[in-house]
Amino acid sequence: MNITVFLGAPGSGKGTQAKQLAEKFGFVHLSTGDMLRAAIKQQLPVGIKAKTYMDQGNLVPDSVMIELIEETLASLNEGANIILDGFPRTVPQAQALDSKVRTRVSQAINFLVPEAILVPRLTGRRVCPNCGESFHLVFIPPKKKDACDKCFTALVQRNDDTEEVVRRRLEVFKAQNEGLVGYFSDHKKLINLNADKAVNTIQDELLKVLKQ
Ligand code: AP5
Repeated sequence: MNITVFLGAPGSGKGTQAKQLAEKFGFVHLSTGDMLRAAIKQQLPVGIKAKTYMDQGNLVPDSVMIELIEETLASLNEGANIILDGFPRTVPQAQALDSKVRTRVSQAINFLVPEAILVPRLTGRRVCPNCGESFHLVFIPPKKKDACDKCFTALVQRNDDTEEVVRRRLEVFKAQNEGLVGYFSDHKKLINLNADKAVNTIQDELLKVLKQ
């Protein structure tokens, strides 16, 4: 099992890149945010537990997240090329992942974006509630106003993409990020990526790294 972790602030473009790499090149994209949102939609116990934390911009407890990701990884093939988007987010989560040979991380790509552009990226994001496709009102607008390019469903704003919650998410990110980046740097697995570029340019750079 080959695991690449995407690290980076909310809005740094992790999900946009991971989705495209999965569609075009067969990577298995595991987004813990998407998994939790699906669990909320289906009213599963893990979703009910997570919702309050998410709506407030806080992290869901490590114990919940570690169990969720371990169960998911256990269900995948040994040969899968996995992109983990949004996990780990804390050092205990990173340690839990590395504690078993099968789930040990190969590399962690750190998406670097100036802080000033994160808030407008997130408050302008619109997502498709049907297929999960993500757009931006200004930077990546849908072809038809307010409708998904793929399935034509009306786009919505995520509950946690309001300015107040975005600012809280960024605070929470900052509190954890140094430790997490330090963890992967100490393990010689950290690759810094300038993610303040066009989506296609970033994808080309990621492909070079992922092929190594
Ligand atoms: P999650 O869904 O993982 O949210 P996040 O990490 O805050 O990440 P985002 O999805 O907001 O950002 P992104 O980097 O994927 O950006 P995107 O590509 O969409 O988590 C949500 C919540 O779940 C957390 O707050 C927490 O409560 C909980 N949770 C999840 N995992 C957890 C864990 N492990 N532990 C504890 N709690 C956990 O891009 C953003 C916008 O920018 C889009 O509109 C996009 O179109 C646009 N954009 C992307 N790339 C570019 C570009 N190059 N140029 C211009 N615009 C761009």
